[in-house]
Amino acid sequence: MSVEIRSSSPDETLALGRRFAALLTAGDVVVLAGRLGTGKTLFASGVAIGLGISTQITSPTFVIEKVYRDGFLPLIHADVYRLGSLAEFDDLELVDEGSDGAVLIEWGDTILDSLPEDHLVIRFVIDGDDRVISFAPHGSWHERELAVLT
Ligand SMILES: Nc1ncnc2c1ncn2[C@@H]1O[C@H](COP(=O)(O)OP(=O)(O)OP(=O)(O)O)[C@@H](O)[C@H]1O
Ligand SMILES: [Mg+2]
Repeated sequence: MSVEIRSSSPDETLALGRRFAALLTAGDVVVLAGRLGTGKTLFASGVAIGLGISTQITSPTFVIEKVYRDGFLPLIHADVYRLGSLAEFDDLELVDEGSDGAVLIEWGDTILDSLPEDHLVIRFVIDGDDRVISFAPHGSWHERELAVLT
């Protein structure tokens, strides 16, 4: 089931990320899609807090990926905005590296063809002063209780 949630403040988006973190298990691949400044990194910060990671998340745009291992579950936070090709994405071996943790990929729309069948796409869209955040499950993500987020 797809779920759509409206966030009317940065704090709400952060809190949603915290709640979402409780659904994550090792091997999960999550795409954060949406245009510039829609709240993808803020949501990822909430996920990190929810996983008990004490390091402040920063945008991995220039380094492509950052790994946080001080929480309940390792978190790999990637931003593929600067990648030139699918081949470059495959070379990163992000999904393999994240097999003992969860992988969050910002701007993942461009690499959907390289993802495993089981993945979740979270899309961030600006609507006036709000953000509409939708969760679209693929493969085994259909069995997750996304409704607990609402
Ligand atoms: N409801 C909201 N949810 C999230 N962010 C919001 C909201 N309302 C306003 N904002 C603002 O939007 C900005 C979101 O920034 P953020 O870095 O999370 O976006 P991003 O999608 O990661 O951008 P980029 O594409 O550059 O990586 C912040 O400045 C935040 O304060
Ligand atoms: Mg970002």
